[in-house]
Amino acid sequence: MKKRLLLICLAMVMVLSLSLSACSGSRSSDEGSGDAAASSDDLVFISMPTQGEERWIKDGEELKAGIEAAGYKAELTYAQDKIEQQNSDIENAINKGAKIIVIGAKDGSAVGPAVEKAREAGIKVIAYDRLIMDTDAVDYYVTFQLEKVGVLEAEYVIENLGLEDGATGPFNIELFTGSADDNNAKFFFKGAWELLQPYFESGVLTSPSGRVTKDFTVDDWQDISIDSWKMENAQKEMDSRLAKYNGGAIQLNAVLSPYDGISQGVINSIEQNGMPWKVGTETWPWITGQDATNYALYNINQGTQGETVWKDTRVLAKKVAEVCVSLLNGETVATDATMDNNNIDVPSILLDSVSVTKNGESDAKGTVSVQDVVDSGYTTADAIKPE
Ligand code: GAL
Repeated sequence: MKKRLLLICLAMVMVLSLSLSACSGSRSSDEGSGDAAASSDDLVFISMPTQGEERWIKDGEELKAGIEAAGYKAELTYAQDKIEQQNSDIENAINKGAKIIVIGAKDGSAVGPAVEKAREAGIKVIAYDRLIMDTDAVDYYVTFQLEKVGVLEAEYVIENLGLEDGATGPFNIELFTGSADDNNAKFFFKGAWELLQPYFESGVLTSPSGRVTKDFTVDDWQDISIDSWKMENAQKEMDSRLAKYNGGAIQLNAVLSPYDGISQGVINSIEQNGMPWKVGTETWPWITGQDATNYALYNINQGTQGETVWKDTRVLAKKVAEVCVSLLNGETVATDATMDNNNIDVPSILLDSVSVTKNGESDAKGTVSVQDVVDSGYTTADAIKPE
């Protein structure tokens, strides 16, 4: 109940702070440190990677609404997971005279030349959730604490296998990383692998597929990545790994999945390969995830997926809207970190996330329940449905 109140308060604070920004956005920048007077004709162009995943639709809509509520124009496009489409969206933004382009990159490196053109045209570039790599043409990066996501997932596995309590297994686990063109995927894995590797070292954890051994390093992360984070690709990969499980006679105890879509692919594969493991019993593996998607929340209630990491995209979108308003007002943007994109240290804002399980706090300290996510207004009970 306390947790629920906290979530509601958090949402209210975000709304309040955005409306304050909105007020400052509608006056001229006399009080700001910059030179340009903000006008409601100023365009913020938003280029999101895909409409094929639930979260980016939410992200895009929240951000657009936030910018508009602050009195500015916003245009939202989706690149359908295509590099060329994103580049042409950015080109379009430059031609339209956008003041700011916010980019959730499909491919963090391939988008470099397009943002360099934007920089030349005097446009500010904000990297949204995913870092834009190998260029100095990025002004700000707003995301969540990336390694923490992996830490939360690994902690879920460690806790449920009883590893800290000295369980020696050996336990069988399969590990996956996100898309090789997304810098985030490396950091999610880094957070998890630092906690899990010692158990591989001691032989308590092992991967029957042979895809990960104790000698695996964070730099090998692309060896186990799922292209474009896609469910179908995860399912195919899991199909081939399950071939090593002897029709289910070898038990799978846990799956480190960095994203709900990948978790769904893993679940489909287990079910469609007729593994004899039963949901709700100790034969079903502990499966992690990320994004608190509606289908994952459904899966968690059903018991197929055990956990997801909830990065409240409303908070991210509101924070980015605030950054845009500050920039349009010529004000300084407060950042709390920098992230290295192989070229520069990009001034960054890193938000917090939390683990979600069916029962929340009573499952593990600091965890929230599916019901808490619903009560926060992030989604509705009706929307929680199968993929
Ligand atoms: C990552 C993002 C995750 C997840 C994934 C797949 O970049 O940080 O939250 O959404 O992409 O879309």
